[in-house]
Amino acid sequence: MATTAPRPTTRRAADDISYRDLYERWERSNWSATEIDFTQDKIDWEETMTDAERRTALWLFSLFFHGEDAVTDGLSPYIDAAPLEEQKYFIATQQVDEARHSVFFNRFLNEVVGLGDGSIAGGMGATAGQLTWGHRMIFQGLEEMCVALRADPSPHQFARAITLYHILIEASLAQPGQHIIEAFVEKRDLLPGFRSGIANVALDEQRHIAFGVKVLADLYDADPRGTETAVLDVVRENGTFISGVAMPPGWDESYFTAFDYSYDQLGRDGITALESRIKAIGIDLRSAERSPLPVDLPLDERAQRGRVLLQSNLVGPDRPASRDPYATEVMFDSLARAADVHAVRSGTVIEWALTDADPWQLSFDAGKCSAQRSAARKADLKLVISFDDWADIFAQRVDARKLLLTRKLRPKGNLRLFAKFGKIFP
Ligand SMILES: [Fe+2]
Ligand SMILES: [Fe+2]
Repeated sequence: MATTAPRPTTRRAADDISYRDLYERWERSNWSATEIDFTQDKIDWEETMTDAERRTALWLFSLFFHGEDAVTDGLSPYIDAAPLEEQKYFIATQQVDEARHSVFFNRFLNEVVGLGDGSIAGGMGATAGQLTWGHRMIFQGLEEMCVALRADPSPHQFARAITLYHILIEASLAQPGQHIIEAFVEKRDLLPGFRSGIANVALDEQRHIAFGVKVLADLYDADPRGTETAVLDVVRENGTFISGVAMPPGWDESYFTAFDYSYDQLGRDGITALESRIKAIGIDLRSAERSPLPVDLPLDERAQRGRVLLQSNLVGPDRPASRDPYATEVMFDSLARAADVHAVRSGTVIEWALTDADPWQLSFDAGKCSAQRSAARKADLKLVISFDDWADIFAQRVDARKLLLTRKLRPKGNLRLFAKFGKIFP
């Protein structure tokens, strides 16, 4: 539903983008993935690069290759849903780009690294073992988003779909990843064929991201509140998966140091890229309710929080969760930030009476929700549960109803409040 909120009066970065200019840039920047000469790349790969460098390159390039394949396949419902012809045409050009990126990565993996049989399916099969949990989750989410967009091509669903594809996957994930790779091959003066290809991929992605920002800015002008909700919901739903995409196998940081980088630096780059694009759309994260990005905290800490939750198994597929005090604090603080303060009356207190760890409470007061490590003097609702079982619920590894049935989760006090749990923590 459109709202009557005024258009933003301050000029946004999106106001400098036009669909015509984006299309013209596409025509001017066509390139060939099949004509790249990988002769020197093969020599560099076999004779100059270290084992650690090859291991990192294979891992990162595989993540990219599978990502490029997924985004190639996913764009057609976007063409149908786009309200303007100019948007449909641009998305058609983007689909061609993504296919070319897939061909480029597959050629390198096949002709330089020696994987697969040259076919896309062969290359994907040969590199599937490199994929991470976060990667599988985010691209499964993209597939589901494409199905949802086909069923419901409304502006709201289109805003959600563009946020996942152009803002989260392309701007906050792929572009910072490309920068790591480009900086490494340039500094070491390696892989000239790959270098020319990835430079073109990066230019294409810049255009795709600018297009996503422009579409969302247009949707924001037509419906500021609805678009803000769509964008921030998708960021909230996928933040965990995004931070897990480049989680190095076994948390072995040498996957990053081999390329002169760190997981936390990539986290900072991803967050910075995401926040700047959200701002360019016209959304003010400081005044947004339930912002999934805690912009009041220093950037270092925001990047660290994502890593700490993953490393402690408080998000992600692995058990058991660590009881590291800082990680536990981040978990409850995240819960407080995500809570819908309008779903309960002011003064409400919920206590986590953890059976084998310190208790925590969330209190709702004057439109704010805050977390505290202590038992409540008077809790409206008490959740009696073990730390591991609660961590499984928080990480969405288990359905809370199942723990309720087996009495591993025992709510005490105001059970009507418990029944509203899904509304309080959507
Ligand atoms: Fe791409
Ligand atoms: Fe792209």
